[in-house]
Parts: sequence; C-alpha cells; structure tokens
Amino acid sequence: MRPTAPRASAARTPTGRCMTLVPATDSNITRAANALRDGGLVAFPTETVYGLGADATNGEAVAAIFEAKNRPRFNPLIVHVGNLEAARKYARFSGMAEQLAQAFWPGALTLVLPKLPDCPIAELTTAGLDTVALRAPAHPVAQALLEAANVPVAAPSANRSGHVSPTLAAHVEADLGQRPVFILDGGPAPLGLESTVVDASQQSPILLRPGAITRAEIEAVTGISVGDAITGERPASPGQLASHYAPRASLRLDVTNPRDGEALLAFGPETPAHKGPCINLSGTGNLREAAARLFAALRELDASETQKIAVMPIPAEGLGEAINDRLKRAAAPRGD
Ligand code: TXA
Ligand code: MG
Repeated sequence: MRPTAPRASAARTPTGRCMTLVPATDSNITRAANALRDGGLVAFPTETVYGLGADATNGEAVAAIFEAKNRPRFNPLIVHVGNLEAARKYARFSGMAEQLAQAFWPGALTLVLPKLPDCPIAELTTAGLDTVALRAPAHPVAQALLEAANVPVAAPSANRSGHVSPTLAAHVEADLGQRPVFILDGGPAPLGLESTVVDASQQSPILLRPGAITRAEIEAVTGISVGDAITGERPASPGQLASHYAPRASLRLDVTNPRDGEALLAFGPETPAHKGPCINLSGTGNLREAAARLFAALRELDASETQKIAVMPIPAEGLGEAINDRLKRAAAPRGD
C-alpha cells in the first residue's frame, strides 16, 4: 500500500503557506512523524478515509485542525493509537470495551470510553468531555506513522467542513492545499466509509455513528444488543449528547466591564481592572491559543465559588466562530 513512485509536490500558496504532498515512503513517514511531534498537521491514509492529524496532547496543534477544516464548531475528535496497549494509557476499558477492541482492532471501530484521571489528551481534543473516542487504524501507513510519532494522534476526516470525506490524497490536496499540511499519499482508502462509533462507556454499547463495522458484528461479539443514541424522537449527533460539557456557573457574554463577584474570562492584551478569579485565554489575542485553553479555562473558573462568568468579546473570524459557538451554547438557558 506504500507507493514507491517518486511523486512529490511542494507548493507555496499565494498566502505564503507551504503544503507538501509526498508518497508514503518510510523516510516521508519519518518526516511526517517529526512534523506531528513538532505540533504540525499531517494528513494520512487510514483504511476508512484520510485523516487530518495532530498530536492529541497539544491543544494548539489540535486548534489548527479546526482552523484548517474551517469547522464552525468544536466537535470532539477521534484519537488514533497503534493498539490496545497504547489506548489503555488514556481510557478505562470495561470488559465489554475490551472484547470489542480485541475483536475489531486494528480496524474501523471507534470506542468512546471514560478518560483516565491523569489522561494527557488535550481538553480541546475531547471538547471538554470526560470521555475520549479511541481507534487503532489498520492501514499500514497509519500504523507506521503512529509508531514513529509515538504520540496519540487526533484526526477527523481531512476535508473542509461540509465537504465529503476524502478517500484519495488528491481530495485532501484539493480541500486543504491552501493550508500548511504535510500530506502522505498512501493510495485510495480501501473502505471509503468512516469508522463505526460506539459509546462503550456504559454497561451496554450505544451506536453513535453507523460505519464500516455493522451493528450485527458488534452484537455477535458482545452478545448484548446495541442501543441507539436517541434523544426524544431524533437521533443525537454525538457531539451534541447531553454529556457535552456545560459549566455550572452561568455566562455573560461580550462583557467589557465585569461586575463585582463575577469571574472573568478575558481575551487579548487590554483587560479591564477586576477583582476575583480571572483567566486570559490569550494575552496576545491569538485565537489558536484561546481555542486550546477554552475548555480547561471554563472548567477552572467553574470550580471557583463564582456563580457567574463574564466573558470578554472574542472576534468572530477564523477559530473565533467555533469559540463563540461554544460560549453561546454554554450561556444558553438550560433546563434539559
Ligand atoms: O473513519 C474515521 O472515523 C475517520 C478516520 C480519519 O479515522 N475519522 C473521523 O473523525 O471520521 P471525525 O472527527 O470526523 O468523527 C468523530 C466522530 C464524531 O461523530 C464525534 O462526535 C464522535 O466521533 N466523537 C468523538 N469523541 C466523542 C466523545 N467523547 N463522545 C461522543 N462522541 C464522540
Ligand atoms: Mg468527518
């Protein structure tokens, strides 16, 4: 599956950014692994679709994934690991989860599991959830990359938000070529359909996203019937499940003058005078840094005694759209 034809292109785009598309030879896989460890983005083939990967423990690198995909929302991402042994460093496996991993890994099954207390995966990777989605891909290029990088790799499909998932390196280039992405060409993705996502954090498995591995195959292994993620009458989109992190304190948005007793979630170099808990998402006004800190900052301010968190205005461009989306949803009245 590793092409040997010497096809490489490196283009400097009009914005001055550099994209590289290379065949997935051993030496290019080593280069890609180094790029991942340095906080860069690498698109790589898996047996399902091409993924856009970053070091899952590096919040700013993960923020760059959302930026490159132009995703207006922070959905939790799948974390790719080499095998079950590596996965155990990040999540707690029940007997049922263990059975599923033994049966289908490496392969097209993603398991959503409780994060371990000392889990080093960045909060942005899991969108602040207490669970993490893990998958060991079977594709030899993905396996070689994960082994060489020796870090867990967060990777959604390598397309622009709203476009179909890429099954060829050329699709990735067409969608993300304007971005500083290192693309490993490993030929067509054999399955061409995303992995099945199963929530295995409870007693019985719940199908969050149908995919390459079927419900019947999962039931045959576990002997338990697979539930559906249904809220009310319509299926829940996994990123929107009730477990999605919402702060206890209420939020007040676009605040330039915080009131006494409020905690302050600040942004940028000019912050108002304020007594009480304050976290600045980025003192330099850098949206990537702000995205990387967002979920941890909300959690930290929430843990203080405060009932209200005042949030300074965050520009709506680029990653600011996803940051503002998350804040708006956290600020919305609850009751459900
Ligand atoms: O085949 C695939 O799964 C591809 C390749 C690259 O591995 N990846 C992929 O990732 O499709 P992505 O990010 O596009 O899809 C992740 C899915 C989303 O439906 C997301 O909501 C769900 O997994 N997910 C991730 N973490 C979750 C969590 N902690 N709880 C519930 N759902 C989660
Ligand atoms: Mg996708």
